[in-house]
Amino acid sequence: MAARSLKPGVHAVGVLDWDKPLFDDLIPLPDGTSYNAYLIKGQDKVALLDTVDHAFCDELLANLAAAGTSKLDYVVSQHAEQDHSGSLPAVLARFPEAKVVTNQKCAELLKLHVHLPAEAVTLIKDGDTLDLGGRTLQFIFAPWVHWPETMFTHLREDKILFTCDFLGSHRATSDLFADDEAQAYLAAKRYYAEIMMPFRARLASYIQKIESLGVDMIAPSHGPVYRRPQFILDAHKDWIADKPKNHAVVAYVSMHGSTKIMADRLVDGLLDRGVGVTRINLPTMDLGQMAMALVDAATVVIGSSTVLAGPHPAAASAAYVANMLRPKARFATVIGSWGWGGKTVETLKGLLGNLKVEFLDPVEIKGLPTEPDLQAIDKLAATIQEKHAGL
Ligand code: FEO
Repeated sequence: MAARSLKPGVHAVGVLDWDKPLFDDLIPLPDGTSYNAYLIKGQDKVALLDTVDHAFCDELLANLAAAGTSKLDYVVSQHAEQDHSGSLPAVLARFPEAKVVTNQKCAELLKLHVHLPAEAVTLIKDGDTLDLGGRTLQFIFAPWVHWPETMFTHLREDKILFTCDFLGSHRATSDLFADDEAQAYLAAKRYYAEIMMPFRARLASYIQKIESLGVDMIAPSHGPVYRRPQFILDAHKDWIADKPKNHAVVAYVSMHGSTKIMADRLVDGLLDRGVGVTRINLPTMDLGQMAMALVDAATVVIGSSTVLAGPHPAAASAAYVANMLRPKARFATVIGSWGWGGKTVETLKGLLGNLKVEFLDPVEIKGLPTEPDLQAIDKLAATIQEKHAGL
């Protein structure tokens, strides 16, 4: 990706990673991702905001050259995670005069992860400014979006806010700007669900702070830039709201079809009662799809066959992931079929321990469901409907 301009003197010099299949070897990337870095030229000084994954350092250096960078005074590090800091050593080798501008916590993490020496760093505090000559960077600490050292950078004169990972999306696209908002919404929701949802409680204050700045543009560290900031801020306000929607996630794995019959009956029962459902067949699921469904759902139902006296590993993994993501769900339960005993329900319930949910009566059956078994599923659907009506 060549250097492109957000505004005169403000260039996107990051890279597109079209091919990466998994982020952190965990999160599926159906649309690839980008590692955004921004070059800001003042009358006196030049600053680079973040670098890129180390695999793309040559491309970053080429982009800097294409943007006419003959000297670099500062590299602002908003976040120490390696997808943004991995090329920092290569950038400093090319521009040894540059100082790394960051906060104390980020400096500690950069030392840890890319062996950045302390003497390369100029430390800043929350609210400090950096004068580039006619352009001013102001640093706004925003811990836990999604690491403890994360911060935003406000380019005041141009009304651009660089938000680090926050408000981003994993998308490799030739579009510099997220003007196709329908497309941008889904990618950003997936990204929020996978990365920011566990920190939901903190995000409202950051959104409020961003709104108070009155910026014209939000430039995150992944995905395209928002020229209508309120679009992405409003989307996040909806996602972080405490009240869940009238929606259930039914995520199941079925070894010989019995648990599938139960899951299907529950899905039908919920739909008949006006409850929205996301049905997930766990062995073939995309983790991002489940995470997105968890953003709004009021109820989480894990369906599992019993295998070797416990839950199927696919169900255990789904419960573990749901527990890590800490969605706003208010209710949870387990359904499933077993042959000769086990601790499927207890194990799955234990794996969901972080969720602040009322655990509804599980439906455990033996073998192929009978009509009374299916009536128990219908009763569960009715209970979920009632619980949702009381939200
Ligand atoms: Fe995009 Fe937390 O790194």
